[in-house]
Amino acid sequence: YRDLRVALLGCGSVGAQVARLLLEQREELAARTGAGLQLVGIAVRNIDAPRDVELPRELFTTDAEQLVLGADIVVELMGGIEPARGLILRALEGGADVVTANKALIAAHGPELADAAEQVGAQLSYEAAVAGAIPIIRPLRESLAGDHITRVLGIVNGSTNYILDRMDRFGDSAEDAMRVASELGYLEADPTLDVEGYDAAQKATILASIAFHTEVPVEAVYREGITGITSAQIEAARHAGSVIKLLAIAERLTAADGTEGVSARVYPALIDRDHPLAAVHGGKNAVFVESEAAGELMFYGAGAGGIETASAVLGDLVSAARRHVAGGPGIPGSAHAELTVLPIGEVSTAY
Ligand code: HSE
Repeated sequence: YRDLRVALLGCGSVGAQVARLLLEQREELAARTGAGLQLVGIAVRNIDAPRDVELPRELFTTDAEQLVLGADIVVELMGGIEPARGLILRALEGGADVVTANKALIAAHGPELADAAEQVGAQLSYEAAVAGAIPIIRPLRESLAGDHITRVLGIVNGSTNYILDRMDRFGDSAEDAMRVASELGYLEADPTLDVEGYDAAQKATILASIAFHTEVPVEAVYREGITGITSAQIEAARHAGSVIKLLAIAERLTAADGTEGVSARVYPALIDRDHPLAAVHGGKNAVFVESEAAGELMFYGAGAGGIETASAVLGDLVSAARRHVAGGPGIPGSAHAELTVLPIGEVSTAY
């Protein structure tokens, strides 16, 4: 079989695990893909920075641009907009497939990157960008491609779910729950991204865009975080047979004036205790999908974590490698429908 050159950009908690699994499972991955996945280099800012996993020093480079040239598959795990965006565009223009876990980048520039991939028949995949280990991008894009999705309800931010769950189950105050989440390392470096719903809004954009084949700019997502939620509200919800969860909602609907549109919104919502999403505890994530033919589906699991997220990245890598072996273009990812994103005032704020 032929060797495929895999370039890794970034070596944080996810990147280090992806590198380890690529090296350790070389033979198994070759058997599954029909190609040798050759890790040709890992681009980092600082070669001597401490890492979660010990990796061969000769793999490291600080020259990401050079590494991308000549790669068959580029795995971008650096995060942030630039230089990730520029490097991905360069990789796609060169015909490489790209796998990324970069939710901020896909939320902000997904359509641009998908178009770039489609122009050269390359594949852009980002299963790990939403809900970590949980397969949700591929199910929405492929498994449900023949169905009509009507609504997606996601608990897609683990740290806020952890905080709300502690308040509900252990009676923690908001401050105490936040402190424990912070001590456990569950919060982003800037916790505002979690508690004010920005992280969930990025994921809502991605889910809405895929579920409804349209462009949903992250600025169009209505967003409310959990900082206003008090123990008294959690208590009141419990008495009413409900639980408060930070939901990312993507919904296909018709406005009062007949406009066909979509709504994407993030806010702390009351969920009936009997709903499967009410049973998503701790830092776990889940995505509940409603569609015309399949009915209700739920995807549950780890929404973060180095090795867990690496599982999703490896899945995309295997899929890209198989495409290289089989030939033919990647699965188109660009938006084909043009739906209006309806403002919050025109939709019900019940979940
Ligand atoms: N801060 C995110 C969360 C990390 O809590 O879910 C995973 O995207």
